Amino acid sequence: MKTLVVGAGGREHALAWKLAQSPRVQTIFVAPGNAGTDQLATNVPIPATKIKDLVSFARQEKIDLTVVGPEAPLAAGLVDAFTAQGLSVFGPTHKAAAIESSKVFSKNLMKKYKIPTASYAVFTDAGQATDYVRRQKMPLVLKADGLAAGKGVVIAQHEDEAVAAVNNILEGSLFGAAGNRLIVEEHLDGEEVTVLAVCDGKHILPLVSSQDHKRIYAGDRGPNTGGMGAYSPVPALTPDLFTRVEQEILKPAIYALAAEGFPFTGVLYAGVMLTAAGPKVLEYNARFGDPETQAVLPRLETDLVDLIEAAIRGELDQIQLAWNPNAALTVVLASAGYPGPYKTGYVIEGIDEAMQFADTHVFQAGTACVDGKTVTAGGRVLAVTGLGHNLKIARECAYTAAEKIKFQGCYLRPDIGWRALSSP
Ligand code: AMP
Ligand code: GLY
Repeated sequence: MKTLVVGAGGREHALAWKLAQSPRVQTIFVAPGNAGTDQLATNVPIPATKIKDLVSFARQEKIDLTVVGPEAPLAAGLVDAFTAQGLSVFGPTHKAAAIESSKVFSKNLMKKYKIPTASYAVFTDAGQATDYVRRQKMPLVLKADGLAAGKGVVIAQHEDEAVAAVNNILEGSLFGAAGNRLIVEEHLDGEEVTVLAVCDGKHILPLVSSQDHKRIYAGDRGPNTGGMGAYSPVPALTPDLFTRVEQEILKPAIYALAAEGFPFTGVLYAGVMLTAAGPKVLEYNARFGDPETQAVLPRLETDLVDLIEAAIRGELDQIQLAWNPNAALTVVLASAGYPGPYKTGYVIEGIDEAMQFADTHVFQAGTACVDGKTVTAGGRVLAVTGLGHNLKIARECAYTAAEKIKFQGCYLRPDIGWRALSSP
């Protein structure tokens, strides 16, 4: 079969790598891809949000299955456009993707269907929001409604910061249309976990748990990033808590979206805070996580095509997933300056050497091929995943391989997995 992966990051490299293991897959295209996907697939120079061009390409090449990585094309209706042309595609429709693309829609859905989440209020008027914020206890969380590439959330420790965030989001130009509405939310304490679930509109099949590391510096300090590393499974998510996430957070969301008339097919990402009062939703995303996917997919033994096709047919209840019992840990190598401004175009050495290690995978993200050399082309440049009998061994594998990879200004967090590894 001929497949197409839409996107250009480490997540998409991991998806293409997993598709390549399926005996059912003969051809993989990645649009637009990176230097890593170019080695196991054919890159197509169409940006992920050029939906019309992607439809034309898929029709022309007679693509049998398209898998979408990032949120922007989902929110822009890629799945609707492909389906209208009779093309098989895995991901939610524009309307179902609103669970990620509008935080107000998502919070209101959670409230209506009694899904546990932080209490909140929605504002469009900066004056009213400021009055409200001044009456709340700190810390307080302020969020822009729309997609803001992970940068739309401010955790204000003091009233002044909260008031500044109100103005930045509602009146500043920083968030564009994403900032037309503001959510002010209760601050939740606890450990964060991600649970991804494959969904077919009616049924869900949760994947193994993972934990992202969103902050740039060790010890979870500094500004938020797209994610600096991940590991799987998360010991803090006990079997009992995992069942609660499935029953109280994932199943009700799929039920709610179907009941509202927007059945969700694709991957539902639950970002969950394990609070003293039980698991609560921080956010839903409408897609695989990045870098969580790079830690989760290497553990999946089931054929990804069988799984995705069952989801598209609405037959997920027929599938039982098989998992590698090993732990996985992924460390991201980033450009100096990320998540702020950074330079690109530096030659990357040592990828082949890193790939020689057993139980190790290198997933490329912000890379490009220039004059036969692999060079940096983004903020998050690569992700290295190690597997092992336990998390400690997985960490050793990941960091030993990551050490072989060199480029000017390479930055990585030295402490991926610290919460799990430092707990008794
Ligand atoms: P979001 O995009 O909504 O997941 O927010 C990004 C990050 O902000 C989350 O991964 C959390 O680390 C943090 N965050 C969001 N909402 C809250 C909250 N209500 N309480 C504490 N931290 C939060
Ligand atoms: N790792 C966070 C995300 O994919 O949104």
